[in-house]
Amino acid sequence: MHIAALLVPAVLCANIASGQYVIPAADGSNGWADALAKAKTLVGQMTTEEKLNITQQNSAFPRVGEVDRLGYTGLFYADGSEGVRGAPFSSAFPMALNGAASFDRNLLYRRAVAIGEEARAKGINVQFGPGVNILRTPGAGRAFEYQGADPYLSGQTAAEHVKGVQSQGVMSMMRHYIGNEQETGRRWTSSNIDDRTAHEVYLWPFQDAVQAGVASTMCSYNGLNGTYACADNTSLGKWLHEELKFQGWVLSDYGAVVAGQEANAANAGLDSVIGAAFTSYSDSPAPGFKYPFGPSSVLASAIANGTVSEARLDDMANRIVSAWYKLGQDNGFPALNTSTNALSQAHNDLIREIGSKSIVLLKNNGTLPLAKNKSLYVFGQAASVDLKGSPYPVSFGFAPDADMGTFLGGQGSSYVSAPYVITLLDALAEQARSQGTQVFGYTDNFNHTVQATYAAAAITADATCLVDVRQTCSEGYDRQNLTASWEGDETIVAVASQCANTAVIYSACGPFNVTAWVDHPNVTAILNAGGLGQEAGHSLVDVLYGVVNPSARLPYSIAHDLGDYAALPDFTIKAQNTSFVDVEYTEGLLVDYRWFDKNNIEPAFAFGFGLSYTTFDYSNLSVQPSTATLDKFAAANSTELYDCLALITIDITNSGTVAGSEVPQLYIGSPADGAPVKVLRGFETVGLDCKAKKTVSYNLTRRDLSFWDTYNGGWTLPSGEYKVYVGASSRDIRENGSFRFTLK
Ligand code: BGC
Repeated sequence: MHIAALLVPAVLCANIASGQYVIPAADGSNGWADALAKAKTLVGQMTTEEKLNITQQNSAFPRVGEVDRLGYTGLFYADGSEGVRGAPFSSAFPMALNGAASFDRNLLYRRAVAIGEEARAKGINVQFGPGVNILRTPGAGRAFEYQGADPYLSGQTAAEHVKGVQSQGVMSMMRHYIGNEQETGRRWTSSNIDDRTAHEVYLWPFQDAVQAGVASTMCSYNGLNGTYACADNTSLGKWLHEELKFQGWVLSDYGAVVAGQEANAANAGLDSVIGAAFTSYSDSPAPGFKYPFGPSSVLASAIANGTVSEARLDDMANRIVSAWYKLGQDNGFPALNTSTNALSQAHNDLIREIGSKSIVLLKNNGTLPLAKNKSLYVFGQAASVDLKGSPYPVSFGFAPDADMGTFLGGQGSSYVSAPYVITLLDALAEQARSQGTQVFGYTDNFNHTVQATYAAAAITADATCLVDVRQTCSEGYDRQNLTASWEGDETIVAVASQCANTAVIYSACGPFNVTAWVDHPNVTAILNAGGLGQEAGHSLVDVLYGVVNPSARLPYSIAHDLGDYAALPDFTIKAQNTSFVDVEYTEGLLVDYRWFDKNNIEPAFAFGFGLSYTTFDYSNLSVQPSTATLDKFAAANSTELYDCLALITIDITNSGTVAGSEVPQLYIGSPADGAPVKVLRGFETVGLDCKAKKTVSYNLTRRDLSFWDTYNGGWTLPSGEYKVYVGASSRDIRENGSFRFTLK
């Protein structure tokens, strides 16, 4: 055993010996010392009752409790990842998954700054998000709130989100910690994940968010290896607090502390709750509507009888209050006013830009960009506002109307009621007016005979056909099949049966089934639009006409068949009510493209893939590893994990005829036993005028190159040859090399 593993702190041994695990109290590391000192002074003046008060939600508009007597305002919070939910005059941003598809750190940061500005304007202290659960199964219901299927991409995007929101003095909340990869049975399934996979895949992006300074964490509904995630010593105590040295506070998901687990949750590291307790292993609220924490709660009794220590209660309060100080919310933070108008033209413009830079061009046989003098025939109800009227539900819900019309994003607690919506037809009409061209729209999805007739007319008129379809998705439900809503796939086939130039615009919350039409010779272009938010039509028109040259990349793979994916939920499972239903993460490290690589499965579209209206050349790969003799092992909380151990550079040239942006991706094939064929470890967005060239550099850290050593409980550099791949997608490697380290 490595010596570091023997250095178990004495305090931890004492706790294990007495039979009760105690998480380390916040110690002010990672730049939190001042905030913690101030918090201790304030919390030191609080009564037990007041401390308990700040551990629960206690007002109509969600607030984690205040202590007015001492000038502590408490924390108002709002969902979610797409903008400020549940308040009028908030912008509906493109989905988080669209942000990830941009592969553009600067854009992600600006998206988050804008969301933070809107939250602050309304006096929201805590804006929930980023969601960093991994898109493990293709139909995962909340994938739209997350950052795709790869841990490195998720971590990088999450870090930008945290920095952006928190630049506005608003706390960011990473979630849903941890193992909440499916919605099916989310309150009564246990995600069973081995230690190495947990560290290398599911914990990885949370670690990046902590590094970026995230102030808060939301623990999830599900079980993790047989224990409720909100009451789990391993994930909350050991991973989050000991290994990652998280200094902020942990909030339960709504009602995620089940009756009977209150003291366990507090001891494991939960600091605050929202929602009343639920009955364990079920979807039912526990009888008697009781808050797990707060005055007169089960926690209060546990403190009184010593099951939970006063010291832990102090730590809970210190963590919450120190985050308030850390973000400067003690000084001049706006009072809550959810009706404050936070809208602006600058945000509308940004939403349009994020939209256009997150649309992935999957296929293009010369149809796009559209010539300005071409007439258009537009099909598919997603091109227009809801045909049924009352299109956008104002509050939380799974309203049937939200299944129709222009797709802005997924449903559930992250749904933002858009202040306005630009549909594809609106935007095309604007464009047509300025160009003097014709746009004809037929948006009934069900009459395929009429569709085919109009599609034939389009050919006679030498027009291009656009078919705009969508799949609906929502929190609470995983998509069982990946086909378009409202006969969207049949609409594509009907139009393509006649129209030789059919461009498909497809909106979904992740992978979708392309098999029925992808190889149809008349389907000459495919745009994967995701959920574009309120400026959807404008963003699409910018890409269709080449005002924006597409540069987004798939943050997941799209398979030919459902059976090709690494994992699918068991949709037949039912709550057992007395114990968890197990969900085994048997694919281990082989999520998404790693599964396709390992099993030699050709995807329809590979992770990282996306076309441009120009072309790029890759040349001059240079690989410069550290020449020092390196210690193999680094402890889980070592700062050495972020040392740069190798520098990779490559030249990218725009070899086409228009300006554009390329996203060269760096993948590493590790010599570690059981490592995937390759894993993403770098990406950059490079804007280039035609014929221009730039050198792109990637720093590889010790963490990037190590595997999680379960035996020693730390990160280890394997010996052997590290393979380096740089390419335009996980399946389009343009240059490769390798290196070795001298290790001791
Ligand atoms: C969701 C959370 C959300 C909470 C409060 C829950 O159903 O899982 O993401 O923050 O509701 O709206």
